[in-house]
Amino acid sequence: MQKLKQIYEGKAKKVYGTDDPELYIVDYKDDATAFNGLKKGTIAGKGVINNRMSNLLMQMLEKNGIPTHFVRELSERETLVKKVSIVPLEVIVRNIAAGSFSKRYGVAEGLVFDEPVLEFSYKNDALGDPLLNTSHALALKLATPAEIETIKGYALKIDRILQRFWAECGVTLADFKLEFGRTSDGRIILADEISPDTCRLWDSATGEKLDKDRFRRDLGGVEGAYAEVMQRLLAHDAD
Ligand code: TMP
Ligand code: ASP
Repeated sequence: MQKLKQIYEGKAKKVYGTDDPELYIVDYKDDATAFNGLKKGTIAGKGVINNRMSNLLMQMLEKNGIPTHFVRELSERETLVKKVSIVPLEVIVRNIAAGSFSKRYGVAEGLVFDEPVLEFSYKNDALGDPLLNTSHALALKLATPAEIETIKGYALKIDRILQRFWAECGVTLADFKLEFGRTSDGRIILADEISPDTCRLWDSATGEKLDKDRFRRDLGGVEGAYAEVMQRLLAHDAD
C-alpha cells in the first residue's frame, strides 16, 4: 500500500491518502507538544513506540468487541487505517484525579473515583479545546444523540478493558483521551491513538509517571518512561 497525498498533519502524526479511497496511512512523528502547542519538543523514538502500542491495544480492544480504525501495521511508524471523519470531541475517561481535573476542582492528584468520570472537550485548537457537556455537543451538532450514546458506551467499556490490561502490566491507568470517527457508511469506530501521549500511566508499585506528563512537567526521563511502559506491554503479551 502506497502513501499518496498528505491529507492532514497533526501535532504528533501525519495522515496520507492511499489508492484505496476507504483507507489512510498514519505516520507517527517524534514531535511532542503540550499546552495547546505552546511547549514544543522531541521525544526520540516516541513515534515508533506509539505506533506499536496503539496498534497492539486497538487489536486487543477489537477482540473485546470495540470497532477500531486499525487495519494493518505497515512499518515501525506507519499504519494502515480505515478512513473516517473525526468526531470533533476529545473523549476523556478518568479513574483517578489528575491534570486538568485536579486543577479545575482543586483536588490533589491521586483521589480515586468510585465510578469513572466521562468528560468531553470540543476538539478545536483555536478555542483551546474547551470542556463541554452532552447538551453543548448536541447544540453544536458535533454528533447525533445516538452517536453520543454509542461513544459513551464504547468509552466506558474501553476503560474497563484497558484498566484490567494495564493492571496486569503493573501499571495504573489514571485517565486517557479517545477520539472516535465516522466511517463512510456511518458507523462510529475508535480512531486516533492510545499511547503514553494520550494516557496517564503510573507504575502501580511506586506511582512513578510513565507517560507524557514527564514531558509536560519537565520531569526528565521521558524516553526511558515510554520505553519502560512499552516493555511492560510486550512482556505481558509474551506471557
Ligand atoms: P487533562 O487532565 O490535561 O485534561 O488530560 C486528560 C487526559 O487526556 C490525559 O491522559 C492526557 C490526555 N490528553 C490528550 O491526549 N491530549 C490533550 O491535548 C490533552 C490536554 C490531554
Ligand atoms: N496535544 C496537546 C497539545 O499540544 C498536548 C497535551 O497532550 O497535553 O496541545
